[in-house]
Amino acid sequence: MIQERRSVRTFKKTPIEAALIDQLMISAMQAPSARNQQPWSFIVVKNPEVLAQLSQVSSGARHLNGAPLGIITLMKDTEHAPHMCPQDMAASTQNILLEAHQQGLGAVWIGIFPLEERINNVKKIIDIKTGTTPFSIIAVGYPAQPYEKPNLRFDRSRIQVIE
Ligand SMILES: Cc1cc2nc3c(=O)[nH]c(=O)nc-3n(C[C@H](O)[C@H](O)[C@H](O)COP(=O)(O)O)c2cc1C
Repeated sequence: MIQERRSVRTFKKTPIEAALIDQLMISAMQAPSARNQQPWSFIVVKNPEVLAQLSQVSSGARHLNGAPLGIITLMKDTEHAPHMCPQDMAASTQNILLEAHQQGLGAVWIGIFPLEERINNVKKIIDIKTGTTPFSIIAVGYPAQPYEKPNLRFDRSRIQVIE
């Protein structure tokens, strides 16, 4: 499954069933996190106008325009292991991508954090709770076209073995 996933950026208009969105959220919250701090929360955006606005937050966000679903991941300020929160959020974002692939959906990670401009652009559109920062947006939908398995990136020269 991991080897077959790839970023999908064009989607059918078909809405995503509520049960599938739940699966995405279940997997998102099953991610590992430092000290199990689970610094995440999520905003599920189905509204086409809001998705069109979000598609303007960066050039890489344009794929949200026309997507049936966008998931904004939010990172909470924590006292446990604050420096680890971005890693926790990345693990959660990756889980959403993998779960989407598993469910026959396509998805792409749109990077927001740590770029201040993108964070502020999201905050201008969505009323984000104090103490939380937008981390990523995942555009999700049924792929508009079937896609090929990606080339394997495996490169043994990048591995050092200490015996
Ligand atoms: C932190 C991060 C930020 C990314 N931001 C964007 C983005 O803004 N727009 C986009 O289209 N793809 C974005 N991507 C997807 C990458 O371009 C993609 O994962 C990469 O080209 C490898 O292709 P693959 O996902 O098909 O394996 C991002 C990926 C990561 C991990």
